Amino acid sequence: MSTKNDTEFDKSKEQRRIIHSRTFKVDEDDNSSSKENTTLMTDSLEYLSSVWKHVPELTKKRKGTIGNGTYSNIIKVRDDKDSRDEACKIFEIGQINSEKEKVVIRLAREVRALVRLGAHRNIVQFVELQRTPERAYLILEHLEGANGTQDLLEFVMRFAPLSEKLSRSIFEQLLCGVRHCHDNGVSHRDIKPENIVVIKDDSPPHKLRVVLIDFGLSDCNGNIEAKACGT
Ligand SMILES: Nc1ncnc2c1ncn2[C@@H]1O[C@H](COP(=O)(O)OP(=O)(O)O)[C@@H](O)[C@H]1O
Ligand SMILES: [Mg+2]
Repeated sequence: MSTKNDTEFDKSKEQRRIIHSRTFKVDEDDNSSSKENTTLMTDSLEYLSSVWKHVPELTKKRKGTIGNGTYSNIIKVRDDKDSRDEACKIFEIGQINSEKEKVVIRLAREVRALVRLGAHRNIVQFVELQRTPERAYLILEHLEGANGTQDLLEFVMRFAPLSEKLSRSIFEQLLCGVRHCHDNGVSHRDIKPENIVVIKDDSPPHKLRVVLIDFGLSDCNGNIEAKACGT
């Protein structure tokens, strides 16, 4: 038997599907020349090799699926040493060849930006990057969405209309995150409600913490207006 909450949840999933069907994504790497992509690929691999730790297999305990993205699957993992949950984006890069180009470039964009941004309240915290012969595992702090929501899109669909005070707080925090990016020469280039997570936070003055995620389309080289990019 479905409850009122289930019905609302199904409705919000359907709305999410409609929103997705009306949007399209422009990926900078799609409209780059093959020469530009070869350079990007070499650069990305060189960068990733300096960051990832080679391990025979993922060193964390798997605790279930969070979601399936275009370039990665996201799971929840447990770090026993620190007794905390973390999120893990899994990239199937295996033996790297030209077919894996886009995934590798995207992973490098994300890691480079997160490492550069360090710790900030409004940016998801990078933990580490592990590499096995088959995959790359990007470990991030785990963000437990407020009231079981997945992201800001779901939060708005479930709780609209939001009060002016709450809307202002969400927007202010988002701008804080964006300012931190720009102060550090990072352009996110794919800011949208699906890439923002709202989590509970008990520390004043905010009751919620707004966190920017998904830096897979970001740029750290000042290419802010060079090409169309994002959703
Ligand atoms: N650190 C995290 N903690 C909890 N959930 C996350 C985290 N990172 C991503 N997610 C969830 O996974 C979804 C997809 O992740 P995202 O980084 O946006 O990948 P994609 O490139 O596939 O869009 C997000 O919308 C969010 O719901
Ligand atoms: Mg995303």
